[in-house]
Amino acid sequence: MGYFITFEGVEGCGKTTQIKLLSEFLVTRGMQTTLTREPGGCPIADKIRAILLDAENQALSPLSELMLYAAARAQHVTEVIAPALEAGKIVLCDRFCDATVAYQSFGRGIDRDVIDSLNLYACQGESPDLTVLVDCDPQLGLERARQRIEATSGPREERFELEALAFHQRVRAGYRQLAADEPDRFLIINGADTIEHIFDAISAQVVARIPEELRVVC
Ligand code: TMP
Repeated sequence: MGYFITFEGVEGCGKTTQIKLLSEFLVTRGMQTTLTREPGGCPIADKIRAILLDAENQALSPLSELMLYAAARAQHVTEVIAPALEAGKIVLCDRFCDATVAYQSFGRGIDRDVIDSLNLYACQGESPDLTVLVDCDPQLGLERARQRIEATSGPREERFELEALAFHQRVRAGYRQLAADEPDRFLIINGADTIEHIFDAISAQVVARIPEELRVVC
């Protein structure tokens, strides 16, 4: 079996930059790595992502939103995550089931038990070995996220960036609660630091946790 690492955090916390840097770092050291993301990661789940993040879909109900995340995850686990882990790879996934707890339960207020059972079905027995929480003040994160959206051409994936600050504060509190509940699985990193410092902290601590048989240094 491989090793499953997820990255989580509020909008604009810097996790996507960091997961890409980590992937390059592991690949250049000869480690078998799969870099993927949620929602998305395979063609069918990418189509669901487009619905979920389209700023025009303001009418999407919290329950439909939850079901779509679960559907995208079920497809992604089946097509990408489970086969990669089965093949002994290190899987790096930008968001996974913790995001559903943080956003749909802490953020939207959907019953946690409902979310936990849906996650259980959708994940089909796969669960992260390590989760890097890039923790950051939502105000700072939203400023960064809005700058990124303005600089990007193509579809505006900003349905969540348009949510009130209070929503993002609940999401952050949710992530911190999850990390406090499972301190062995979570690694909390300060997302307000520079890209270089954050990367140094993540790479050192993540590599130390990768099982020896998967850790290649060349
Ligand atoms: P991204 O901005 O990291 O690509 O994530 C897309 C958005 O989807 C982000 O605003 C968080 C949200 N999200 C949820 O609300 N629930 C989930 O289960 C996942 C995976 C993401």
